[in-house]
Amino acid sequence: MTRVDVRVVLLLGVVSVLPAAAQDSAARSLPSHHAKAGVHCYDCHQEEKPTKKAVASDSCMTCHGDYPAMKALTKDAKPNPHDSHLGELACTECHRQHQPPVVKCLECHEGKFKFNLH
Ligand code: HEC
Ligand code: HEC
Ligand code: HEC
Ligand code: HEC
Repeated sequence: MTRVDVRVVLLLGVVSVLPAAAQDSAARSLPSHHAKAGVHCYDCHQEEKPTKKAVASDSCMTCHGDYPAMKALTKDAKPNPHDSHLGELACTECHRQHQPPVVKCLECHEGKFKFNLH
């Protein structure tokens, strides 16, 4: 976006959020569950035009709930990825967004556990 575009966005406020998002999403793909749900760049990055790599777990928790909630959600997974000896890892250690997800546990436990992560 050019400088002029940025000013237009500021002037139009909410109205220009849609075109700005459409333009950005061409450049950054999201997992289909987030693309379909229309999760916006700002929801995770807390910036209209993200420049930072780090996304705080707080952003994810706003919609999904905290660790105890995630632990309950996957209580049937063995072992529970949200309740391990690693403690409360950043969500994005596993749920990466513009690249395929990884299960960090498997770095050490390769081939030992099976998860249903997408
Ligand atoms: C603005 C709200 C919002 C934010 C922020 C958000 N999500 Fe989501 N997420 C959703 C919605 C809506 C869905 C699709 C419905 C569902 O499965 O809950 C979803 C789906 C998911 C799923 C798939 C769930 C399934 O059943 O397969 C995962 C995993 C996930 N989000 C993780 C994250 C992580 C990690 C973050 C932070 C980087 C995050 N989300 C940020 C709203 C959000
Ligand atoms: C160590 C890796 C890891 C971390 C860190 C992690 N998750 Fe997960 N998450 C997983 C795996 C693996 C699954 C799939 C579990 C299964 O096999 O059912 C999952 C499943 C989910 C789901 C979908 C649950 C369902 O089946 O409906 C959501 C939503 C989710 N995680 C959100 C989060 C959020 C929010 C955080 C941070 C608070 C987080 N996760 C942190 C590995 C992780
Ligand atoms: C569901 C949360 C989420 C949403 C929505 C999201 N991002 Fe990200 N973004 C991340 C995470 C997590 C990372 C760290 C790298 C990764 O996991 O892919 C990241 C990294 C980035 C980076 C820096 C690293 C890189 O890949 O170059 C940029 C730039 C970026 N996102 C732009 C965007 C734009 C533009 C949008 C809107 C189209 C967007 N993001 C939407 C979570 C999100
Ligand atoms: C840095 C390496 C490392 C990572 C990453 C890691 N673990 Fe472990 N884990 C170990 C070691 C070492 C032990 C103890 C020796 C053993 O039993 O393999 C262990 C033991 C365990 C055990 C008990 C023993 C067993 O085999 O049943 C479970 C369950 C477990 N880890 C789950 C997880 C989960 C879930 C994750 C991801 C959230 C994870 N680990 C990530 C190294 C790691």
